[in-house]
Amino acid sequence: MVGPPGSGKSMLAARLPSILPPLSASELLEVSMIHSIAGKLAGGKLSDRRPYRTPHNSASMAAMVGGGFRARPGEVSLAHNGVLFLDEFPEFTPQALDSLRQPLETGQCVIARANHRVSYPADIQLVAAMNPCRCGMAGQPGHTCARGPRCQSDYQARISGPLLDRIDLRVDVPAVSAADLMAPARAEPSAAVAQRVARARERQRERFAASADPYARTNARCSTAIVETIAEPDPDGLALLRDAANAMHFSARAYHRILRVARTLADLDDRPTVGRIHLAEAIAYRRAGEPATAAAA
Ligand SMILES: Nc1ncnc2c1ncn2[C@@H]1O[C@H](COP(=O)(O)OP(=O)(O)OP(=O)(O)O)[C@@H](O)[C@H]1O
Ligand SMILES: [Mg+2]
Ligand SMILES: [Zn+2]
Repeated sequence: MVGPPGSGKSMLAARLPSILPPLSASELLEVSMIHSIAGKLAGGKLSDRRPYRTPHNSASMAAMVGGGFRARPGEVSLAHNGVLFLDEFPEFTPQALDSLRQPLETGQCVIARANHRVSYPADIQLVAAMNPCRCGMAGQPGHTCARGPRCQSDYQARISGPLLDRIDLRVDVPAVSAADLMAPARAEPSAAVAQRVARARERQRERFAASADPYARTNARCSTAIVETIAEPDPDGLALLRDAANAMHFSARAYHRILRVARTLADLDDRPTVGRIHLAEAIAYRRAGEPATAAAA
């Protein structure tokens, strides 16, 4: 989420747990094991709520991916099967940010020691919030950064290209005016959204129970070979995807990630086939909020 100060990014993130689907029994077991190893199973109580971790931007790389004397699990593993929320994303150290790349790709977190390696599960949804620039106001109507265009490009460059390539939904969070707040639009309650999310999850569970990939549980984590079959777009969608791929030079990773997101959008819509509208939305999420420098290139 990219937006100016006070636009509601932290507030939105704090509401996210209210729409997450409950943990399944096997997911709950994995989460409990990790939290138990980390000594964080409060009173031995189990809960079917998804983990939601919010480390501060001063967190060290060891705190993030794990380490220390006993190679304890870090935040990415404590967030396994849940959400890792990083507020003020560019303020994290480059080492901490870099350490996220491998777990985001593989869903595993490897801690290398002198003579052995420890691997913990780290299948997370990363959610991050940031201002568009150092002063926070770049792109606002009538605003010119005192430091010029570099204010934005320098700040956004702290998020490396490879890390950005792993972020599927880039959302602009515009400032809300006082007038907007005084005449609030009717909004869907979180409970209704949570139901839709749970149904989409259930649909995925059924799909993978019947598929050749016994470990897959979600569109996000099934193998790339399977993605191409389960997310095969209709002819209109395929044409759009081909045009967009030519015009925007997607990486291979981006291509498959767009298919995964489009499949999930179709699931949320209760549609058996991925259509043009789902692909258009998935492509738009990948492009929105892209650093001005990359967009111009
Ligand atoms: N869309 C909104 N609807 C209602 N209240 C809002 C909205 N956006 C912001 N607010 C109000 O503004 C406050 C500040 O929002 P929040 O802290 O989430 O901003 P932020 O985007 O995280 O800002 P920063 O970039 O400074 O961290 C919220 O606690 C809430 O009171
Ligand atoms: Mg904030
Ligand atoms: Zn600025």
